[in-house]
Amino acid sequence: MSKKNKHCHQNNPQQQAQAKASKQPQAEAAPASEPNTRIFVPRDAAALSMGANAVAKAIAAEAGKRNAKIEIVRNGSRGMLWLEPFVEVETDKGRVGYGPVAPSDVAGLFDADFLKGGKHVLSHGLTDEIPYFKNQERLTFARCGIADPLSIADYRAHGGFAGLTKALTMEPADIVAEVTTSGLRGRGGAGFPTGIKWKTVLEAKADQKYICCNADEGDSGTFADRMLMEGDPFCLIEGMIIAGIAVGATKGYIYIRSEYPHAVGTFREAIKILTEANWLGRTIQGSPHDFELFVRVGAGAYICGEETSMLDSLEGKRGIVRYKPPLPAIEGLFGKPTVINNVLSLGSVPIIIDKGGAYYRDFGVGRSRGTLAFQLAGNIKRGGLVEKAFGVTARELIEGYGGGTASGRPIRAVQFGGPLGAYLPNSKLDTEMDYEAFVKVDAMVGHGGVVVFDDTVDMAKQARFAMEFCTIESCGKCTPCRIGSVRGVEVIDRIVADVNREANIELLQDLCVTMTDGSLCAMGGLTPMPVTSALRHFPEDFHRPARAEAAE
Ligand SMILES: Cc1cc2nc3c(=O)[nH]c(=O)nc-3n(C[C@H](O)[C@H](O)[C@H](O)COP(=O)(O)O)c2cc1C
Ligand code: SF4
Repeated sequence: MSKKNKHCHQNNPQQQAQAKASKQPQAEAAPASEPNTRIFVPRDAAALSMGANAVAKAIAAEAGKRNAKIEIVRNGSRGMLWLEPFVEVETDKGRVGYGPVAPSDVAGLFDADFLKGGKHVLSHGLTDEIPYFKNQERLTFARCGIADPLSIADYRAHGGFAGLTKALTMEPADIVAEVTTSGLRGRGGAGFPTGIKWKTVLEAKADQKYICCNADEGDSGTFADRMLMEGDPFCLIEGMIIAGIAVGATKGYIYIRSEYPHAVGTFREAIKILTEANWLGRTIQGSPHDFELFVRVGAGAYICGEETSMLDSLEGKRGIVRYKPPLPAIEGLFGKPTVINNVLSLGSVPIIIDKGGAYYRDFGVGRSRGTLAFQLAGNIKRGGLVEKAFGVTARELIEGYGGGTASGRPIRAVQFGGPLGAYLPNSKLDTEMDYEAFVKVDAMVGHGGVVVFDDTVDMAKQARFAMEFCTIESCGKCTPCRIGSVRGVEVIDRIVADVNREANIELLQDLCVTMTDGSLCAMGGLTPMPVTSALRHFPEDFHRPARAEAAE
C-alpha cells in the first residue's frame, strides 16, 4: 500500500477499479479519534449506467492523492434519477448531495471541500431538504439509498427486521388480519387485496405451500421493483419470510427478469448473507419457522409477468397463461397453494407488521390505502421515483415533482400503468392517483408507471405500437389476442393511410370490444385500453392527411 493513500478506506485505487460495484470496498480501520468521512456512491443500475463505478474509482484515487480519510459506501439510489450518479457526503448536519457527478468533476469537488459539504456548482445541499425528496412519504422505500443494501447491521439500525421479529411471535391468522387491515392491494397492476389472497392460501390444506415474488417488471417506464431489489433487498426478503409465516409456506421463489442482472446479483448475495446469519433457512433466529428462498431468472417475455405464465416458467416450461380456476392460491406452483405477489406488495409488508395495519391504512384515499412508488419516465425533466400516498394528483407528480417535459414543450399525453394502460390528455391530469378515480376516467394506475409525451407525439402511432406490442408478446393461447392484435395493426395502418377511414375506425372499435371481452387474460383484454384512449382523446391524429409512414 502506498503511504499516500493509506488512510483511504478504499486503500488501493487500482484494486478498487477492478472491484465490481457489488463488492464492498476494502476496509481499513481508522484511528478512533479520526473517523473516515462516509461517501455514498450508488450501485443502482441507473447510477451505474451513468458511470457511478468510474466516479467511485475517481473519488478513491483523489482521496488517495490527498491523503483524505474516506469510506465509500455503495448504496441504493435515492430515486432522483436525473441527478445520477448522485454522490452524498455524510456531514454533521446530514448528508449533502452532489450530482450528476462525472469522474472529471471529482478533483474540483475535493477542491471545494466537499468532504465537509462544501459549496460547488453540483451541490444540492442537504439531501433530506431537496423538495423532490423531502415531500415524499417513504414507507416501502424508507431505507432505499440510505442504508448499505447488504449490511445487516445497517439494515437493523434503520428499522429492518422489526416486522419479522414481531411476526415470529404472532399467530399466522393475526399476521393476515394485520395485512387485511392495512388495505394493501397488489402493486403488480391488478390491485387485488393482499390480505384476502393470503387468507385463501392460509386456509388451503397442503403439505407444501409457496411464496412467489413477481419481479418481472415488464411495464414500460417502470423501475421501482428493480430499485428496491438493488437498494434494499433485505426488505423484500423480510416481506417474503413474513408472508411464508402468515400462510404456512416454507419455500419462496423470486422471478426476476434477465434484463436486471444487477438486481439478480444483489439478490443472490443478499440471500447468501441472510442464510449465513440465520434470517433464512431452518429455525429462523431460533424460532420454529423455516424459510428457503430461490432466485429464478426469466428469459424476457412480457407475458411471463402474468402470474400463471410466471408459474409455468418457474416450473421450467414455456410461459403460457393458465385457465382460472383453479386460482394459484389453491393450485399454484407445482400444483400447490401459492401466494403470488409483486415486489412492492411484499416490500410493504415489513412496515405494516412493524407499525400495524392501521398505520399504513391511514395513508391514502378511498379504497386506495397506503403509498405507491410512482415512477416518472419518458419526456420528463426530473425522472425518478416518487413514493406518495394515494390521492396525489397526476399533475402534482408530473409538473410538481417532474418539472414538466424534458423538451420544454407542452405535455400532450401521459400513459399510466404500463403498455396496457390508457393515454390521458393534459386536461385529465388533475385526476387523483387512486385505483377507483382512474377507472372513472377509463384508465388504470397499474404498477405506478407514468410515461410523459410532449406535443410532438403522434397518437395514431402510439395506438399502433400498442397493438404491435400485443402481436409480439401474446402467448398465443386465445384467438382474440393472438389474431385480433395482428388485425388491429392492419386496421390502424388503413386508418392512417386514409383507406375507408371512418369504416375502419368503427371496425377498430369493434375489434377492441371483442379483445376486451373475449381474451383469456389481461394481455389481450387490456391492449385495447391505450388504443381506445388514443382514439377518444386524440381523434385528430387519426384524421390527418394520409401518411405512409405508420409502419415505421
Ligand atoms: C401481461 C401481464 C403482465 C404482467 N406483468 C407483471 C409484472 O411484471 N409484475 C407483476 O408484479 N405483476 C404483473 N402482472 C400482474 C400479475 O398477473 C399478478 O396480478 C401480480 O403479480 C399479483 O401480485 P400483486 O397482487 O402483489 O399485484 C401482469 C399481468 C399481465 C396480464
Ligand atoms: S389474452 Fe393473449 S396473452 Fe392472454 S391468454 Fe390470450 S393469447 Fe395469451
